Amino acid sequence: MSTRTTTRSEDIFARAQKLIPGGVSSPVRAFQAVGGSPPVIERGSGAHIWDVDGNKYLDFVCSWGPLILGHCNPKVTDAIVKAAQNGTTFGAPCEAELGLAERVTRLYPFIDQVRFVSSGTEATMSAIRVARGCTGRDYLVKFAGCYHGHADHLLVEAGSGLVTFGQPASAGVPKAFAEKTLVLPLDDIDALEALFAERGSEIAAVIVEPLPANNGLLKQTPEFLAAVRRVTKEHGALLIYDEVINGFRLAPGGAAELYHIDPDLATFGKVIGGGLPVGAFGGKAEYMQQLAPLGPIYQAGTLSGNPLAMAAGIAAVDFLIDNNGWDRLEELGAYFEAQVAPLLEARGWSLVRQGSVFWFSLQQGPAPRSASAIDTQAADRYRPIFHGLLKRGINMAPSAYEVGFVSLAHTEADIDFFTSQLAEVLNSL
Ligand SMILES: Cc1ncc(COP(=O)(O)O)c(C=O)c1O
Repeated sequence: MSTRTTTRSEDIFARAQKLIPGGVSSPVRAFQAVGGSPPVIERGSGAHIWDVDGNKYLDFVCSWGPLILGHCNPKVTDAIVKAAQNGTTFGAPCEAELGLAERVTRLYPFIDQVRFVSSGTEATMSAIRVARGCTGRDYLVKFAGCYHGHADHLLVEAGSGLVTFGQPASAGVPKAFAEKTLVLPLDDIDALEALFAERGSEIAAVIVEPLPANNGLLKQTPEFLAAVRRVTKEHGALLIYDEVINGFRLAPGGAAELYHIDPDLATFGKVIGGGLPVGAFGGKAEYMQQLAPLGPIYQAGTLSGNPLAMAAGIAAVDFLIDNNGWDRLEELGAYFEAQVAPLLEARGWSLVRQGSVFWFSLQQGPAPRSASAIDTQAADRYRPIFHGLLKRGINMAPSAYEVGFVSLAHTEADIDFFTSQLAEVLNSL
């Protein structure tokens, strides 16, 4: 284990806290869940990042998902540089939008039309507006433990009952907005059917991450996902797959392809932007053509579909296609599981993995499938593991409930290194 100097990071972070709330542009980066001061990152290359003190880390955060190819993939960087030399944004149609739309609609056959935005939050927010506009209904159903961005009606948590009206999960969200969101538990077909039996005609849409990856990795059963599809169809509500993490990652056609279920609408972010700010939402033409300028549902964006972001997205998706990226990600993920799972299982814990996404379930018994089944004490168990790994040059998510990502830039040797360091950390607990 190297001795790590962190003076410059600490200095920059202390100064940032005076000018930026919490010193960060997104809360989890502030390390509040694990304690300590975050390294301030200077650069990345392949599977590694370096902080401003010169410390090198093997990176399993990968910017929370976008960097499926690793840092600074040359094809993506070249595409960005080339596009930037022609201008970064025009606020007018550009050919690269068509290029990315062709790829999305080819890989996701249920999508006739797609619109680009600049974040996952915008994508889910807009897809929900489409669902409400097309059905003329107001209520939205989401599942406890799924995160869909920070729009008002999505920052909602469940109360105590099984089927609950949403309560604002953040100050600043009007109660009246949150009440239009109904929160159900994952993995509970009875609760889902009961809600639809009672209120099905008022529900515009159900939004779900088919592989919920924002509160641990809560793998759902095929029966549950099929039931969500069935009841939405029966009651005329739209099914929105939030593929912001799942999309272009779990399979070329994301979770929809993996689970053989076509939703009505899907939302994207992360991978589709090649590391630049991009989101997208798409679905059947009958819904998408209700958007302005064709229809009455308004949605817009100054930087939406800009040529720089579109070029990065095209380069990333093409790299995955040209290099059989999904097969390699499964190979690396399986290798990771084979090495790491036994270390966790020796303590009665488990590794949850799907393709290149993984999560340490630090509790006894089977891995949880719903938010309420997660042991909240896992956070205490994770903290020393996180810091032990960080000291040994491994960057994991600074929260017990966030997933990790293996990228195409990782190698079996990187995973061996990770395994040896994790074994040391676990032995030292
Ligand atoms: C499933 C899911 N949906 C939506 C979002 C929001 O995306 P963004 O952070 O780009 O606004 C996220 C972000 O992590 C996400 O994981």
